[in-house]
Amino acid sequence: MRAVILVGGFGTRLRPLTLSTPKQMLPVNGFTMLERVVAHLGAHGVTEAVLALGYLPEIFREAYPDDTIAGVRLHYAVEPEPLDTGGAICFAARSIGIDDTFIALNGDVITDLNIAGLVRQHRSFGGEGTVHLTPVDDPSRFGVVQIDDDGRVLAFIEKPPAHEAPSNWINAGTYVFEPSVIERVPPGERVSIERTVFPAMVADRTLYAVQEAGYWVDAGTPESYLKVALDLVNGVRSAEQAVASDATVAFDAQVTESIVGAGAIIEPGAVIERSILHPGVRIGEGARVVDSIVGTRARIGARARLTDLTVVGQSVEVGANSTHAGRKLPG
Ligand code: GTP
Repeated sequence: MRAVILVGGFGTRLRPLTLSTPKQMLPVNGFTMLERVVAHLGAHGVTEAVLALGYLPEIFREAYPDDTIAGVRLHYAVEPEPLDTGGAICFAARSIGIDDTFIALNGDVITDLNIAGLVRQHRSFGGEGTVHLTPVDDPSRFGVVQIDDDGRVLAFIEKPPAHEAPSNWINAGTYVFEPSVIERVPPGERVSIERTVFPAMVADRTLYAVQEAGYWVDAGTPESYLKVALDLVNGVRSAEQAVASDATVAFDAQVTESIVGAGAIIEPGAVIERSILHPGVRIGEGARVVDSIVGTRARIGARARLTDLTVVGQSVEVGANSTHAGRKLPG
């Protein structure tokens, strides 16, 4: 089974972390987001994956010189210009000559979805495409999907106002497609899979969906990126080691429900709560980092305070005694 992974977006909501690192190359407790996604695909029978690249493509290539992640063979399809989700999937699929049932997915979705099961259901529906649906409390930021008793999609509604949403089951960003879907997108055209291709498939009655409510997070915002990483160490999803073995934590510093990356240094009296420190970060004496993300090699001065989803970019220096709540540094 082959997969197309969308990893070409600019990741603007995760700036400044994504100014120099594509979203899917950000660390999620020791592994990149992409490595987590590809390992999951590999566990469900995917043997080859083509990365649909646009923004900072060379960073992906350089990171995987042997072109594999977790035994899955990687291919790279670099768009000459952003083709949006549908254009990008079809460009990448064409680049490796996909001519059989394939998986396509957003590369920033962290999920325990049974992908092999989704493929089996797709085959039993006999349609052209099958979409994984997940339930959310507020569907108004997502693509809401209405299905009939046979799993056929009746309506695909992008970002409906809260009171107009026909259900709270949303497009969760993992699809199984027949190769005929590729022909729906003219080569080189900028096309949205959600706004253009899916409505056309609904009209042709060839789109199906499967509701599965297991672990699912779209890690595209500071809040959700923090959540997927911390859920791996706080027992919500697993209980991985949270402090890298070569990090240095002063004996009287406090680290609670947080991730401390490789080579990070936390000086005496510092307090880290529900936060991510990327590799090589230095936290000064008595500094406080709560509900925040500190990018690779950033320096937080003594007694500085970062709270409320403050995001510090790579190599940024935050002054001693400064206070930042809900800020992006640099803004
Ligand atoms: P924001 O700028 O924060 O909205 O993030 P984003 O650019 O990643 O957009 P979004 O999260 O909506 O995109 C969903 C998925 O599609 C992500 O995995 C993106 O990397 C990817 N994506 C979005 N647009 C394109 C595109 O034009 N080309 C490619 N190859 N991938 C894209």
